[in-house]
Amino acid sequence: MPIIAPSLLSANFLNLAEDCAFLNESQADWFHLDVMDGRFVPNISFGLPVISHIRTATKKVCDVHLMIEEPEKYTVAFKEAGADILTVHIEACNHLHRNIQQIKSLGMKAGVAVNPHTPVHLLQDIIQDLDLVCLMSVNPGFGGQHFIPQTLEKIRSLKKLIVEKNSHCLIEIDGGVTLENAPSILAAGADVLVAGNTVFKSKDPVATIAALKAL
Ligand code: DX5
Ligand code: ZN
Repeated sequence: MPIIAPSLLSANFLNLAEDCAFLNESQADWFHLDVMDGRFVPNISFGLPVISHIRTATKKVCDVHLMIEEPEKYTVAFKEAGADILTVHIEACNHLHRNIQQIKSLGMKAGVAVNPHTPVHLLQDIIQDLDLVCLMSVNPGFGGQHFIPQTLEKIRSLKKLIVEKNSHCLIEIDGGVTLENAPSILAAGADVLVAGNTVFKSKDPVATIAALKAL
């Protein structure tokens, strides 16, 4: 069964408590929390105070996706805000190995996110240290974009690398995931589906989460 991680970027920011409440009741496994700084990506979302509040509203895994420059400066702060998984972008880290060790030393799971243009073979010397690879299936920065089809090939290459290196790392797909394309994403080897618009813009978000979970 896939892990389902609704992205709260598409939630109702005026009523986050209600959205957290229905996610708690749903079959969602993780809360996917997208942090954007207006530098690494051309958009600004939310940050530490919002995540601290969300933390008090759920016991589910808080999967924090940092789309920020110099993420190493904020590792401790995101731990204190309640992140369970902290994902940094490979394109934002000059010292990725050090960043990953820092995240793990604080007791969080460590993830690396990879933009659509970044080849997965760049992960070959770090994959054994990772708990999660977040393959971006859109250019990061916005919800509601279309899935980039070449991602399917990247999932297969990444899966091969994970098996070859005997890594336990999960493959998360982020961007443009729908009920229609999710079966092929899972067949290619993905473990975690992030879904923003597909969940929050649907008529019945709880039923949509259940439908994704049942794939
Ligand atoms: C995009 C974010 C995604 C986004 C996904 O930069 O990382 O998590 O919220 O939204 P959808 O599922 O609507 O593409
Ligand atoms: Zn994300």
